[in-house]
Amino acid sequence: MTLTVLFCVDPLHPRRVDPHFAREAAAVRDHYGEIALIDHDALRRGDVEDAVDAAPSDLGPVWYRGWMLSAEEYGAMAAALKRRGTVLLTHPDDYRRAHELPGWHDTFAGLTPHSVWRSLGTGQDPGPLSELGELVKPLRGGPGVVKDYVKSCKHEWEEACFVPDLKNLAQLHDIAAKMVALRDDHLAGGLVVREFEQYDEEGEARVWWVDGEPALVGPHPDSPGVELDPDLGAVAPAVRALGCRFITTDLARRTDGAWRVVEVGDGQVSDLPTSVDAMDLYAHLPVPE
Ligand SMILES: Nc1ncnc2c1ncn2[C@@H]1O[C@H](COP(=O)(O)OP(=O)(O)O)[C@@H](O)[C@H]1O
Ligand SMILES: [Mg+2]
Repeated sequence: MTLTVLFCVDPLHPRRVDPHFAREAAAVRDHYGEIALIDHDALRRGDVEDAVDAAPSDLGPVWYRGWMLSAEEYGAMAAALKRRGTVLLTHPDDYRRAHELPGWHDTFAGLTPHSVWRSLGTGQDPGPLSELGELVKPLRGGPGVVKDYVKSCKHEWEEACFVPDLKNLAQLHDIAAKMVALRDDHLAGGLVVREFEQYDEEGEARVWWVDGEPALVGPHPDSPGVELDPDLGAVAPAVRALGCRFITTDLARRTDGAWRVVEVGDGQVSDLPTSVDAMDLYAHLPVPE
């Protein structure tokens, strides 16, 4: 069988791949694979039939590669494709488990900063101070980091990401509220609060895992020129325990030398920096039997 990958369409040219993914689509074609198009904007609008309309029916098993989708959007896309005889190789349950921190956190316990979370809707207040106090009780005092179930506001570090002291609940509330406001209708799931760890400043390594094996160890998109050689010995068993077919782990070296999992992601929606040859990834994606 051939490798078939569904890419996001270019919003300006409805028959072309979104320019951000064009070189990856070329790599798939060069690898004798096939591509089809998904309309990401339509998915976000909730027009799921429109979103999958350009993809031919009966493609069989496929991967998606494109912009991030909420777990709900991914599930809707999977269902619409299935009705047309096309099956995403990553099941919607597996997508959510790798994409959202509450799905993977416990499997990576001891390898990732200790975290707590609560669900929140768009624009919702992070909660009265008494509730926030209960929420962060399991965490040690001192610095922390807030994000939603998927993304942080790392570019607004002081106002909406870094919390100098988690036991200062008024401060935690304000920073969490700012994060919720900035994430706006992209807020995924709710509020995550994590213990802060001091990492080396060299950047992160993004490891791409296919069926429990490290297919590619490359740079993180925020530090595309950095080549790191992380120790994967402790991470590999956790990846296998999570049981998803295609995921990424972002690894940073803590100042004590330990390699830490900053976050896990679904491999279909993790960004591949242009400093990496796309063939180095796609050559490892399994072709369904
Ligand atoms: N618990 C933490 N301790 C120290 N730094 C952190 C922690 N969590 C996040 N960071 C820093 O913030 C950045 C963004 O956090 P991350 O969880 O990767 O969110 P995003 O999904 O927005 O990339 C990380 O790359 C790292 O530099
Ligand atoms: Mg990150």
